Amino acid sequence: MSKRIAVYPGSFDPIHNGHLDIVAKCRRVFDEVIIAVLGNEAKEPVFSPADRVEMISHQLRDCADCTVTSFDGLLVDFMEQWKAQIIIRGLRAVSDFEYEFQMALMNRRLDPSIETVFMVPREEYIYLSSRLVKEVFFLGGNLAGLVPDPILERLATVAAARDGET
Ligand code: PNS
Repeated sequence: MSKRIAVYPGSFDPIHNGHLDIVAKCRRVFDEVIIAVLGNEAKEPVFSPADRVEMISHQLRDCADCTVTSFDGLLVDFMEQWKAQIIIRGLRAVSDFEYEFQMALMNRRLDPSIETVFMVPREEYIYLSSRLVKEVFFLGGNLAGLVPDPILERLATVAAARDGET
C-alpha cells in the first residue's frame, strides 16, 4: 500500500500548541506529515520562512515521520511536487469555516485529486491563533501553556530587538 501523506500548510508565524496538537492528530492517521510553511507571505510576518521552518523543526525534532519545509506559489503545485493529495487544515470556530471552505473548493478545482481534511484542535486551544499570540505577547501577556517555551524565547528576542530600535 502506498504511503498516506498529509500536507499541513500554513503561515505558522509562529507555531503554537494548537498547531502542534493538529500535527499530533495527523500522525495518528497518516504515515507522513509534511508541514509546509508559506514563504511568500502577504501579511508582514514576524519570522522569516527559514526561521519558522527551523523553529517548527526543533519542536518536531523527535518526529521521524514529519518533514518541515517552506513553499512559494500555489499549494497545489507543492502538493504535486511531494506526490501528496491530502491537505490538512485546523478548524476552530464557525468563523474559520467560510475561508476554509473557499480554499478547499478552490484547491480541488485547481487539482481534482486533492482532498482537504479538517481537524479540530483540543478545546483548550480552540481560540488560539498566531495573530493573537503575537498581539498578546508584544503587549506583555502570559502565554504559558499555549506556546512552547522556545517559541516564546524567540518572540522575546524579537521584542528586545524592536525595543533596541526605538
Ligand atoms: O495559516 P494560514 O495563513 O491560514 O495559511 C494559509 C495558506 C498558506 C494555507 C494559504 O494561504 C495557501 O495555501 N497559500 C498558498 C497560495 C495558494 O495556493 N493560494 C490558493 C489557495 S486556494
